[in-house]
Amino acid sequence: MNAPLDTLNVQWRLASRPTGEVGREHFEVTRAPIPEPGPGEVRVRNLYLLIPPSMRLWMNEKETYFPPQPLGEVMTGITLGIVESSRDPSLAPGDYVNGLGGCQVWSVAPAGQLQKVRPRPGVPLAAYRSVLDVQGLTAYCGLTEIGRPKAGETLVVTAAAGSVGSLVCQIGKKLGLKVVGIAGGSEKCGWLRDECGIEHVIDYKSEDVAARLDALCPEGIDVVYENVGGPVMDMLIERLRFKGRVVLCGLVSSYNGGVTQNTASLMTLVNKAARMEGFLVSEYLHRYDEVVGILQEWVATGALKYQIEVLDGLESMVEAIGRVFHGKNRGVQLVKISDEEAR
Ligand SMILES: NC(=O)c1ccc[n+]([C@@H]2O[C@H](COP(=O)([O-])OP(=O)(O)OC[C@H]3O[C@@H](n4cnc5c(N)ncnc54)[C@H](OP(=O)(O)O)[C@@H]3O)[C@@H](O)[C@H]2O)c1
Repeated sequence: MNAPLDTLNVQWRLASRPTGEVGREHFEVTRAPIPEPGPGEVRVRNLYLLIPPSMRLWMNEKETYFPPQPLGEVMTGITLGIVESSRDPSLAPGDYVNGLGGCQVWSVAPAGQLQKVRPRPGVPLAAYRSVLDVQGLTAYCGLTEIGRPKAGETLVVTAAAGSVGSLVCQIGKKLGLKVVGIAGGSEKCGWLRDECGIEHVIDYKSEDVAARLDALCPEGIDVVYENVGGPVMDMLIERLRFKGRVVLCGLVSSYNGGVTQNTASLMTLVNKAARMEGFLVSEYLHRYDEVVGILQEWVATGALKYQIEVLDGLESMVEAIGRVFHGKNRGVQLVKISDEEAR
């Protein structure tokens, strides 16, 4: 059930900081009057909420690339919404916008803080809150700018069937790389192989990852696109070739706590004069229009495959977060906050 849109705003506030997995008890749901935009502002009805794994990190006291989420305030949320009332000439009612609308139905923001979305016919609106936004930019720029691959090189991708990973694998193939994807479970590996055309896949849940890496990458690995961390990351670093590169995009296995990294493998970076570099998508926003334009063309022509999983209603947010950390998400995990149509 979606929220009662005509009466009050429904807001999910962080009530306490999780120490492990996120639960319903960490949130308080409140209701407030629907906000009115001031001069230069617009009122947005949020349609889709992105559930990125890093949402869990924002709940910690420690600063990430966002300041820590203050307790008692509306949970930070990356949203796509529709403008319903505008006091700025750059946006009109009916326009779709991406922004940080939060985990709530309605939000008000200065027009300059929102990004207008112009959906192309035939491309689902939800794709603009996923593959044709942060995930796509992350995959494309992380691989090309940090990984700097050359045709013929070997690329290994972790969380390879995920929203970022599956794009990295396919972009890697387009660049002429030998791509090895590591994912959890036969269904995800089958989708990568059959739908995305990634012939070398490793199911880390049922296969001997080290043995399969040795068989698939006998000369070693040129580029690692790392999304997960933990023991598999150590195996990948240990197999780097001379001057290899590790794109450190995320360490999802550690976000709920518990998993720590074995630093012994890092000596390989010394021995192989290799490079590991953190990637942060906000450093690449200047390439947004160019990269999203390329990806949109591929998506529209079917040359880039992606999956979007949508759960209905803000009340499914906790379940959606859990799905991402249990590998249950099939591609980008979204929560639908309200209906797409203008009212
Ligand atoms: N640096 C940046 O600017 C930036 C931007 C966007 C995303 N990211 C990072 O990119 C990575 C992927 O994000 P995404 O949004 O594309 O998510 P995703 O890959 O669609 O979903 C997360 C996947 O990670 C795997 N996973 C989750 N918990 C795990 C665990 N404990 N151990 C092993 N694998 C686990 C699962 O895949 P399996 O079922 O295959 O295990 C799960 O489906 C994350 O690390 C995220 O933080 C970084």
